[in-house]
Amino acid sequence: MKKCVVMGVTGGIAAYKALDIINALRKKDINVEVILTENACEFVTPLSFEVLSNNVVITDTFKREKSWEVEHIALAKKADLFLIAPATANIIGKAAHGIADDMLSTTIMAARCPTVFAPAMNTFMYENPILQENITFLKNKGYYFIEPDSGRLACGDMGTGKLQKVEVIVEEVLRLLESNKDLEGKNILITAGPTVEKIDPMRYITNHSSGKMGYAIAEAAARRGANVKLVSGPTHLQSPYKAERINIESALEMYEVVHEHFEWADIIIKAAAVADYRPLKVSEEKMKKSDEDLYLALTRNPDILQSVGNKKGNKILVGFAAETNNLQQYAKEKIRRKNLDFIVANNINEKGAGFKADTNIAMIIDKDGNQTQYPLMSKVKLAHTILDHVKWIMR
Ligand code: PMT
Repeated sequence: MKKCVVMGVTGGIAAYKALDIINALRKKDINVEVILTENACEFVTPLSFEVLSNNVVITDTFKREKSWEVEHIALAKKADLFLIAPATANIIGKAAHGIADDMLSTTIMAARCPTVFAPAMNTFMYENPILQENITFLKNKGYYFIEPDSGRLACGDMGTGKLQKVEVIVEEVLRLLESNKDLEGKNILITAGPTVEKIDPMRYITNHSSGKMGYAIAEAAARRGANVKLVSGPTHLQSPYKAERINIESALEMYEVVHEHFEWADIIIKAAAVADYRPLKVSEEKMKKSDEDLYLALTRNPDILQSVGNKKGNKILVGFAAETNNLQQYAKEKIRRKNLDFIVANNINEKGAGFKADTNIAMIIDKDGNQTQYPLMSKVKLAHTILDHVKWIMR
């Protein structure tokens, strides 16, 4: 039987992109039912949605275009997945506070299937702590969010708030329609983000890691039923669903936390970008400038992954390799030196790969030398691919 996605479209400039999402889902043989809010109808016409979905579009509770099915309960029961795209701050706020005053909000309340919000709005609205609290609240209740993209917004501002790319949304919908709990009961320790090494009270050394790769793995593992502890350097990301997040700043702090939770973990995945060096001395006072050149003495940080590899036992250990050249050679050296089961190697100079992007291009190399090159894909999809490899080793 065909899967059914119920799609809620709210009023925003990105509403027209919902048509592309419907088109892509229908190409995957998925039935799409659409609910347009009153405000959405100011931006798009129901007719376009009817033509593309091949279904009668519902615009509000009291218009009964399709009498046997317009009831919100019927629609909620029919849905294998509920997608709200674009989702405004208004619908997110309503859902978080149990407000059900139109067709879309009542259907969200009645839905038992996975419900996914793809927010799109002005960057200041998106960063507003009230909205962020609503998102965190809904995430903790099990709702899914597809983080918005960054760039130039319709209002001319630059920042986060663009509706995520259609292909990323569709990929996440397809994945959720097929998801299972194959990591139930497994304890997974994941590191993510950068480390920050203090120079003085004002200054520090860090790197470009946003945390997206590690957070995607944490979220994916939790969704697949694992118990997840996420050791995170400073990032702007929301905590992943159901993961226990432990914040650290420096490599030394990460070292302590990873070893503290070592016994607990069945699987350890190190996606963090750890500073190899830290300032030899941290000045307690702000360092004053002079006319002379300044040379900063650095000392080695411990290699956390290697220290874990030294006592790994039966645990599954996965490392990352971020390289700009000789990717395979360096990655293979790291597998051996750090005693890994496999490594995820990414060339951070490649477009769409490495730091900050929502996508990555990776090669997975295992300790026996088997290697698989993956094409450009979302970090969410790569996270699942990595977990599939872990499952394969556990078989
Ligand atoms: O966070 P994003 O913006 O999404 O970017 C993702 C990413 C580029 C950070 C990620 O895909 C990635 O490649 N992470 C590893 C970055 C890195 O530090 O690579 P490395 O080749 O220097 O280190 C190899 C491995 O050893 C890594 O698993 C690292 O976590 C670990 N390591 C490194 C140094 C150190 N002192 N201790 C460690 O544990």
